[in-house]
Amino acid sequence: MLDVEKIRKDFKILGRTIWDNKSLVYLDNAATTQKPSSVINTLINYYENYNANIHRGVHKLAEEATTAYEEVRQKVKNFIGASSNEEVVFTRNTTESINLLAYSLGESFLKSGDEILLSEMEHHSNIVPWYMLRDRKGSKSIKIKYIPINKNYELDYSSLKKLINRKTKIISITHKSNVLGTVNDIKKISRIIKSSSHSPLLVVDAAQSAPHMKLSFKDLKCDFLAFSSHKMCGPTGVGVLVGKKDLFEKMSPFLGGGEMIRKVTFEGFTPNDVPWKFEAGTPNIADVIAFGSALDYLEKIGLENIYEHELKLTEYTLNKLKKFNFLKIYGPKEPDKRVGIITFSNPVVHPHDIATILDQYGVAIRAGHHCAQPLMKKLSVGATARASFYFYNTFEEIDIFIDALTKAFDYFAVGACKELKKDEREKDGNANIDGKNAKQFTTTIR
Ligand SMILES: Cc1ncc(COP(=O)(O)O)c(C=O)c1O
Repeated sequence: MLDVEKIRKDFKILGRTIWDNKSLVYLDNAATTQKPSSVINTLINYYENYNANIHRGVHKLAEEATTAYEEVRQKVKNFIGASSNEEVVFTRNTTESINLLAYSLGESFLKSGDEILLSEMEHHSNIVPWYMLRDRKGSKSIKIKYIPINKNYELDYSSLKKLINRKTKIISITHKSNVLGTVNDIKKISRIIKSSSHSPLLVVDAAQSAPHMKLSFKDLKCDFLAFSSHKMCGPTGVGVLVGKKDLFEKMSPFLGGGEMIRKVTFEGFTPNDVPWKFEAGTPNIADVIAFGSALDYLEKIGLENIYEHELKLTEYTLNKLKKFNFLKIYGPKEPDKRVGIITFSNPVVHPHDIATILDQYGVAIRAGHHCAQPLMKKLSVGATARASFYFYNTFEEIDIFIDALTKAFDYFAVGACKELKKDEREKDGNANIDGKNAKQFTTTIR
């Protein structure tokens, strides 16, 4: 059981007020999380006491900074259950990690006629880099196919089986959807791959899972895994790409410059060993070091405890939301299949208007397409509202959220405008929600 009240004291921002003294209720954690004071203090300490470039200087500051930076690689290795530090590459974020892969795997392994499988629930970060690869190779040379989702907003594993063939070279899939909250069974996917007579590489976008549940790169049996520091109490500007060492060694470098070379001559260059081969230029030293403090913090709380707390918050919220019988809620019905993220919409009120009114009550949620436009199309909705939790959220905050939602819907007289019939609400994603037809309001109550 987490002592949430004690934890919250580590996050000064959670004590601030919004507008006319409304307490901040921060439910936009899937976008980015708040940072505890230990992370902020690590940043200050680095800049005040040992700021220097790494891997270059022989002076004391350079040595201290290099050691601190490389120690975080070790922490990430332990945190994510990788086999060695060489399997851990620092990038700027998940997006850059996937771009690195799309570029380097494309250069090193893909040829005309090959296929890449994505799912219908991907974030743009796990779509656009693969389209860019396809377009670089000539639009007809690489095919991108999508594994569908079923009526319970889960991956259709039987379709995945059918889609894998000898041309499939990469399957790149989110571990947890940033819209539906659906947690995909990566071990099952890797079993499906193994049971086929083909061997595509498995890339996992863990941006929404690594912060919220205990992961083991080894156990997941994937080839690559990407996540972002800023979604797990760390600073912005730091991402991680975990990958099998032998694959990293065979891949071409992504960016060229300092750090990533062993030797440069007037004729050419020899790349550095992994992981540095993929870390061109001065890295984000301060933020990587502070990310180490974020990992320490999460380990201290315990990823299992984080998961359990978020599961309880999710169950509690889904129960409370039942009273809004005019709301369409997306994501698996079972809370343990969609932990920590609740996305909803109503055909009458635009999600931006819901979010704007909630903001008046100090409640921060996200509204929009959540960088998942293909998924929005699949759901036949233009935009949705999303509440997303972290371990520092409380049940009292959920009550404030529900209260604010009640006021928002009263303001728009939603119940009177449109009441979705029960069977419509429980139908699959296409149930009576169409962003194009939704009447849009522009609130001016601020
Ligand atoms: C599932 C998923 N993948 C990738 C990303 C991209 O993360 P970043 O913006 O840190 O690169 C996000 C961000 O919200 C995400 O939710």
